[in-house]
Amino acid sequence: MSPTTVPMRLAAPEASWTIETDVVILGSGAAGLSAALAARPMREVVLVTKDTLAAGSTHWAQGGLAAVLDPADSLENHVRDTLAAGAGLCDEDAVRALVTEAPTAIRYLMRLGASFDEGAHDELALTREGGHSHRRIVHAGGDQSGAEVQRTLDESVRLAGVTVVERAFGLDLIVGTTADGRRTAAGVRVAMLDASGGVESVGEILARAVVVATGGYGQVYASTSNPPAVTGDGIALALRAGVEATDLEFIQFHPTVLWCGPEARGQQALISEAVRGEGAFLIDAAGRRVMEGVHPQADLAPRDVVATAISKRMSEAPAGVDDHVYLDARAIERIEERFPTITAKCREAGIDPARELIPVAPAAHYVCGGVAATLDGTTSLPGFFVVGEAAATGVHGANRLASNSLTEGIVAGTRLGRALSWNLPEAPTRRETDPAPAALIDSYHRAALRSAMSRWVGVLRTPVGLGNAGRILDTLARNASARVVPTRQAFEATNMLTIAAAVVESARVRSESRGCHRRTDADGPLEEWTCHLTVRLESGDIVVARGERAVESRVESPDGAVLP
Ligand code: SIN
Repeated sequence: MSPTTVPMRLAAPEASWTIETDVVILGSGAAGLSAALAARPMREVVLVTKDTLAAGSTHWAQGGLAAVLDPADSLENHVRDTLAAGAGLCDEDAVRALVTEAPTAIRYLMRLGASFDEGAHDELALTREGGHSHRRIVHAGGDQSGAEVQRTLDESVRLAGVTVVERAFGLDLIVGTTADGRRTAAGVRVAMLDASGGVESVGEILARAVVVATGGYGQVYASTSNPPAVTGDGIALALRAGVEATDLEFIQFHPTVLWCGPEARGQQALISEAVRGEGAFLIDAAGRRVMEGVHPQADLAPRDVVATAISKRMSEAPAGVDDHVYLDARAIERIEERFPTITAKCREAGIDPARELIPVAPAAHYVCGGVAATLDGTTSLPGFFVVGEAAATGVHGANRLASNSLTEGIVAGTRLGRALSWNLPEAPTRRETDPAPAALIDSYHRAALRSAMSRWVGVLRTPVGLGNAGRILDTLARNASARVVPTRQAFEATNMLTIAAAVVESARVRSESRGCHRRTDADGPLEEWTCHLTVRLESGDIVVARGERAVESRVESPDGAVLP
């Protein structure tokens, strides 16, 4: 099968304005805001978000932030759990750096005003999630941890004087060359949007450092825990600029989103793993435990193991039910106090979790791969940085350990912001000319794309299914045209197509099962596949190759001194 060909530039009106700044950041979740905050004392920072500040995934995170804070726990335990979850593809240096700096990240957030839940003796309350050998998840408002992190950082960034530009879509990277002929990022082309997603104007934000912190791409699936804004924009932009992505096939499916019927589409309510951390367990429609005998950690096994076990059990259709299982949380005392959001969501769906079983199913949740980058955001293109879920830093490998991502966002964003406040990349002296031909696909193709991804590229994958998905995406790609009306929805659809095609091609090439990439035709993990797959665009063709990550992880300050 030949690779799908996708647009190399998003079609939009000519630029009619220019802004110059030191640092431009695309994305307003934990990573982007942390980078802005850390860079701001020394730099002019413009933070661009296509929606409002809190529209991304951070706000929705329930479980919390993983960090070793209990004297009975150890950094070594956290490293070991992260490496075990990552199924052989983590970068141990990056993991060690994250784990070492995680406790400082929590204290930093508290200094900024974050209020985390406390136990009986005023110490931070710690819960457990899948794959963790100890209680080490800090949480806020029971299950509103992400909302508290987002609130804290939103307020801090505005107080620090970062220029926030909402309803602005980062279209494509502007690339230049330095005096000595090196390719470097020079800025970003941006479309200002009206309330319904129409383009009001297009401009250029020129900057010495361009930072992508746009999150993952859960919305390429019909059912996801991610909010509507999570459409892979930054990763697609990087690919179009010639920057490699890696490990895109490793999409983590959260084992338990609230199942609201076979027709439910879009963002689904998450039932945090912390509910299992507090004692809930999975049963099928015939009343049999799902995780018994599957893994020594049973219901608290790593997420890929639990999602796979649920999918296999559903395929057996116990008691005739093949699209969900149940979570029994009835033994959790005062569940509505410990998990207020989850309880409210269940009640909205007519379920009282204190007395009834909660119907749940896996849904797309987190992207373990992304643009190849170090933990301080450096990519293979000077001047271009990527942090948070959009980056593949080696921390997550083939399957992220629960609650490591908010922590990574804070640590990586802060590292990058601090680095940029010390040094800005060299300014380009010339702009790359001769832009690639521009096109878009119409937004109505999103429904077909999402259905194809959910049906054929879900938890369990087959070569036939991946082939079917590839052909559907190929057909959609043939509709790309410069005549499609430019809107936020069309920009997103085109980015989603780029990402979906890259995921399918990567999943097709990786003929083993590892972490959250499970092929029903292949065992694994296999020794010969202990490698990364890189993805790049060549004249719009998706090219997937075996290889190491484009940049090696650099680890500094093992004592955690990088964070303020
Ligand atoms: C959860 O609360 O289960 C999600 C936490 C995470 O994805 O890290």
